[in-house]
Amino acid sequence: MNCNNLKIGALVLSATVLAGLFGCHSSQPVVNVESDLDFCHGRVTRALADLTAGDSVDYTMIPRNIAPGDSLWTLRPAVAEEWCSGFWPGVLWLDYEATGDEEVARQARNYTDALASILDRPVFDHDLGFLMFCSYGNGYRLTGDAHYKDMILRAADSLATLYNPAVGTMLSWPRNVEMFGGHNTIMDNMINLETLFWAADNGGDQSLRDIAVHHADTTMKYHFRPDGTCYHVAVYDPETGAFKRGCTHQGYADGSTWARGQAWAVYGYTVVYRSTREQRFLDFAKKVTDAYLSRLPEDHIPYWDFDDPSIPDAPRDASAACVVASALTELIGYVDNETASRYKRELNGMLLSLSTDAYRPTDNCRSALLHSTGHHPAGSEIDYSIIYADYYYMEALNRFAKIKDLSNFASL
Ligand code: GLY
Repeated sequence: MNCNNLKIGALVLSATVLAGLFGCHSSQPVVNVESDLDFCHGRVTRALADLTAGDSVDYTMIPRNIAPGDSLWTLRPAVAEEWCSGFWPGVLWLDYEATGDEEVARQARNYTDALASILDRPVFDHDLGFLMFCSYGNGYRLTGDAHYKDMILRAADSLATLYNPAVGTMLSWPRNVEMFGGHNTIMDNMINLETLFWAADNGGDQSLRDIAVHHADTTMKYHFRPDGTCYHVAVYDPETGAFKRGCTHQGYADGSTWARGQAWAVYGYTVVYRSTREQRFLDFAKKVTDAYLSRLPEDHIPYWDFDDPSIPDAPRDASAACVVASALTELIGYVDNETASRYKRELNGMLLSLSTDAYRPTDNCRSALLHSTGHHPAGSEIDYSIIYADYYYMEALNRFAKIKDLSNFASL
């Protein structure tokens, strides 16, 4: 057995204990989470050094991606029509969580504060949840700053204005109603339910919880095929609420399974079960997870769309693997022992693959991961480093590092 010892705070877990905890087979070592978080810290601090060099730092310019072969983050304005601005402050908060580095925390605050003006306008689209919860949400979780809490509560109220009670879901893209021929809800929107549940549990209106539960139930009813795979987009009649069709925007075809869409479903229903403890949501979280896992290639990292006919020559999407890995660190705490053992092996396999040279950039590159795919049909960010892959990778590693026994998972 080639399992390294793992130090978690003051606790040193032996290879044997970890092997038992993760159902580690003799051929599969346990991921070395401490070393992986150290590696991420190195990438984060180098990127921060680039971004904060010079006399004046523009905190409104936020890392988004790195093209294949390049090494520096391409920046985008934080408060334009950009859905990824919360991930870089989130990466900094997650790095601070792992290392306790106060300079990283100081910069996490600066980048988080740069997003404030997003709330000064009516909600642009459903991505408000991603934007505010990855930044302010992590900031509040780690510092307890009351201002951050207030910002998340405001974000939840704003997000809720996208809810259509006739349909039972939040509208994802107001600007695309005509293009899709109705009220469009994309699977990614499941991630925003965490903001609503959190707000309802932390002083916000209880209607936010009702909206989140209705959204999850409606999505469960219409957005999936019988085998548990999902459409990217569900289109509804905004007046009657009738389901009109399932289709894609970022996937290969309407009938295909876009890997990150399925990953959002895994993460989303895990959060919904955490927040409701309703058995139907746990059953469904398992169903969509099994649909995802059953289609993975040997190295546990999905092709960008499970049905791209050019597989095995199609690009991968490491970001989807990171989203699922992070969700699995929690889901293994809710499921029966046999399922948990299976999911632990998959989780370990995903994190191991992501730490190999196949997915890890060379030393000069500022990101932690290669090989994510953003919007393949638009020819955008194909086989790139993308900031949300790093975010969910670091979230998965941080959560993994806290695994001591299964009973503490619900508090993560
Ligand atoms: N939410 C957009 C994406 O996953 O690409």
